Amino acid sequence: MSNVGHDLVIVANRLPVDRVADPNGRARWRRSPGGLVSAIEPVMRAHDGVWIGWPGGTQKFKPFQVEGLDLVPLAMSAEEIEEHYEGFSNGTLWPLYHDVVAKPEFHREWWDTYVKVNRRFAERAAELANDGATVWVHDYQLQLVPQMLRELRPDLRIGFYLHIPFPPAELFQQLPWRRQILEGLLGADLVGFQLPGAAQNFIRLVRQRVGHKTHRDLVYLPDGRTVRAHAFPISIDAAGFEELARSEPVAERAEAIREALGNPRRIFLGIDRLDYTKGIHARLRAFGELISDGAFTVDDAVFVQVAVPSRERVEHYRNLRDDIELLVGRINGDLGRIGRPAVSYLHTSYPREEMAALYRAADIMVVTPYRDGMNLVAKEYVACRVEDDGALVLSEFAGAADELRQAWLVNPYDMNGMKAALLEAYQADPKELTRRMKAMRRQIAQHDVKAWADSFMTELEDESHSHTKSVRP
Ligand code: G6P
Repeated sequence: MSNVGHDLVIVANRLPVDRVADPNGRARWRRSPGGLVSAIEPVMRAHDGVWIGWPGGTQKFKPFQVEGLDLVPLAMSAEEIEEHYEGFSNGTLWPLYHDVVAKPEFHREWWDTYVKVNRRFAERAAELANDGATVWVHDYQLQLVPQMLRELRPDLRIGFYLHIPFPPAELFQQLPWRRQILEGLLGADLVGFQLPGAAQNFIRLVRQRVGHKTHRDLVYLPDGRTVRAHAFPISIDAAGFEELARSEPVAERAEAIREALGNPRRIFLGIDRLDYTKGIHARLRAFGELISDGAFTVDDAVFVQVAVPSRERVEHYRNLRDDIELLVGRINGDLGRIGRPAVSYLHTSYPREEMAALYRAADIMVVTPYRDGMNLVAKEYVACRVEDDGALVLSEFAGAADELRQAWLVNPYDMNGMKAALLEAYQADPKELTRRMKAMRRQIAQHDVKAWADSFMTELEDESHSHTKSVRP
């Protein structure tokens, strides 16, 4: 398997599997629930693909297969986890790329380890790729891989996709290693972003900071190669979610959830990784104020907030958890009654079935990030609303707002605006809800994750953009 060559190599910080314990307590691998692996799976099978990624933790594993997919784990030492993953990726790049919602930290030793780990990924990809193979590199943890790989293997076709926002020049410029990152990405033939604005930010920075000629979405390199920067908004397995939401066990579970919450008139729902970009604090405050204002009572409405544990060793994340749990305690202490908390808070992660049941149970889905590349939770909610009802309150600053225009769009920094939107969604009449939901469901059904993967691969493999054939203007 993985010691022979492959025609397609996927390179991502994480492998598409999780290490779990089976009923006998033995550790085994299970496919991750995310949509990315199901989108990429058909492409991997069709191209004899392999996936390189970090399995989490410091343990070393040999290449292995899960459900016929070839996986190659790359280990990280404790120091590399601290400096590459928690440090440069999630303490520097993540906040910098999300509008500096938290203050990015710049440390030279973090950068050195980021370079070192990127090189290891690039070297492994170079070993595994057949002559003329395609390599698809994913996300902000690996932005130097395209250039490193091109130096090792100029015969390869290289694509890069950034799952998170790409910031405006004014913010990106803070990065002491801005030029190296841009040059790293320019090793690819195709650089994909969530939104056209991000691709434009990149093109502008390349022109200003690296000094290359650009025209629309193309960069012309001195060696005659061209690089295309283009938007490919990611999506979900819409049909899969819809089928799950329609299934009997999920429908029953949704009923049971409503019952357990005391059958209130309206259930509000938030589901997020516990991340400071998600605007969880602001939305809970808005909800709490609506109750104190008398807009509705704890008998009328409850807010279910699922906070999925994430990056728990990074300081900003630890502080965020404390802030949110303090607020939830305060809201419930001030506004709740016995058996009727205002906020039902769950610090855990759930399998897809439970998520689908929550989506079906909730009348109002509240997605209020300060900045988000796309936000798939918003799309999953829409896919699960098989009765064409339910309201989506969505931040203008989530990539998904470009497609889900019929949501109640909000500015998460505007507390009164957010309260007004939550109340409108609470009071909306069924006809209005159906009109909006139908339009959003059409959008999601037509633009699913398979269409996303296909359009990226088609563009990457399109001969007309080949680095060997392109000519300077
Ligand atoms: C975002 C990033 C992914 C990342 C995921 C989970 O969606 O774009 O690259 O894998 O968050 O975060 P984690 O730090 O647990 O990998």
